[in-house]
Amino acid sequence: MAGRSVVVGVGHYLPERVVQNAEFENTLETTDEWIRTRSGIERRHFAAEDETTSDLATNAAKAALADAGLTADDIDAIVLATSTADLTFPSAATMVQARLGMTRGFAFDVQAVCAGFVFALSNANALILSGQAKRVLVIGAETFSRIMDWTDRSTCVLFGDGAGALVLEEQQGQGTSDDRGILATDLNSDGRYKDLLYVDGGVSTQSTGHLRMQGNQVFRHAVEKLAKTAEIALERAGLNSDDVDWIVPHQANIRIIQGTAKKMGLPMDNVIVTVQDHGNTSAASIPLALSVGKQRGQIKQGDLIVTEAIGGGLAWGAVALRW
Ligand code: UT7
Repeated sequence: MAGRSVVVGVGHYLPERVVQNAEFENTLETTDEWIRTRSGIERRHFAAEDETTSDLATNAAKAALADAGLTADDIDAIVLATSTADLTFPSAATMVQARLGMTRGFAFDVQAVCAGFVFALSNANALILSGQAKRVLVIGAETFSRIMDWTDRSTCVLFGDGAGALVLEEQQGQGTSDDRGILATDLNSDGRYKDLLYVDGGVSTQSTGHLRMQGNQVFRHAVEKLAKTAEIALERAGLNSDDVDWIVPHQANIRIIQGTAKKMGLPMDNVIVTVQDHGNTSAASIPLALSVGKQRGQIKQGDLIVTEAIGGGLAWGAVALRW
C-alpha cells in the first residue's frame, strides 16, 4: 500500500470578456494572421477592471469543489500558483480561503510563473504524502492583462486571464504506476536566464512593472527542456511516452506544444490544446486545460497524463499522474 494524491475534482473559470486577435489590429502593427501562425492564439479572456486574481481563483475553486462533491470544510490546505496576486500580501490563497468560508487549515501562494501549477501540484503532493493534509485545493490563477505593456506587440497579444483548480485527495494505492493519482514529479530552475522573461518592476524596486520577454530565446529552451522534464517524470514513475494518454502542456505557443509532442514521439491526437481560446494564462493554463479536456470528454478516469511547463526564471517541470 502507498499513499497517493488523487484528483477527485476539477473546475475552471474564465472572465466574461473575450478579445479576438483582430482587436489588436486597431492599436498595434500586427495582424490576426501573424498572431495565429506564430503562436496558435485566436482569442483570450481579459478580467473586468474590478475583477482580481482571487476572484477568478475562488470561482475555479468552487467549480472544482462542486465537481468533487465536497465543501470547503473538507479541505485542509490551499496551494495557489500565481505571479499576479491581488496584493503584495496577504497571499491570494488566504483570500480564497476566506471567500470559500474555510476557517481551518492553511493556504499559501507559489510563484514559479508559467511553471507555477506544476510546482504547486508537486508541493501539494508532498503535503499529502507527508501527512500534513488529506485534501488540498490546488489552484492556478492569473490576471496577466495587468502586467502587459499595451504598446509592445511582441508580448501583449500573447497572454490572457483565467483560473483552474483541482482537488487532490489522499487515497491508498498499490505503489505501482497503475495507481490513480500523482505518480512522479520533476522540478527545475536556472536563475541565470532571468533576463529572458521577467517583469521590470516589483515591491522592492517600487513599481508594478511590465512583462518583458525575449520570446525567441525562451522558445529555444522550451522544446528541449519540456520534453526532457516530461521524460524524467515518466521515468521516475516507471513509465515512458508510449504509456501516455494525454500530454497536458502549458499553453504558450502551439509550435512549442507540437515540437514537444514530436520530441516525445507522440501525435497531436494525444495532446490537450486550448491555447487558441485562452492565450497564455501562465500558471492557470494547465488546470484550465485539464478542466476543459475533461469537459470535452477527452480526459477519462484511469488515463495517464503528463503535464509540463516552462516560464520565467527560467523555471520548468513536469508531473506524471493517473486521472
Ligand atoms: O509562457 C512562458 C513562456 N513563454 C513562451 O513560451 C513564449 C515563447 N516564445 C514564443 O512563443 C515565440 O517566440 C513568439 C510567439 C513570442 C514569437 O515568435 P517567433 O517566431 O519567435 O518570432 P520572433 O520573436 O523571432 O519575431 C519575428 C518577427 C520580428 O520581426 P523582425 O525582427 O523579423 O523584422 C518581430 O518584430 O515578428 C515580429 N513581431 C510581430 N509582428 C507582427 C513580433 N510580434 C509581432 C506581432 N505582430 N504581434
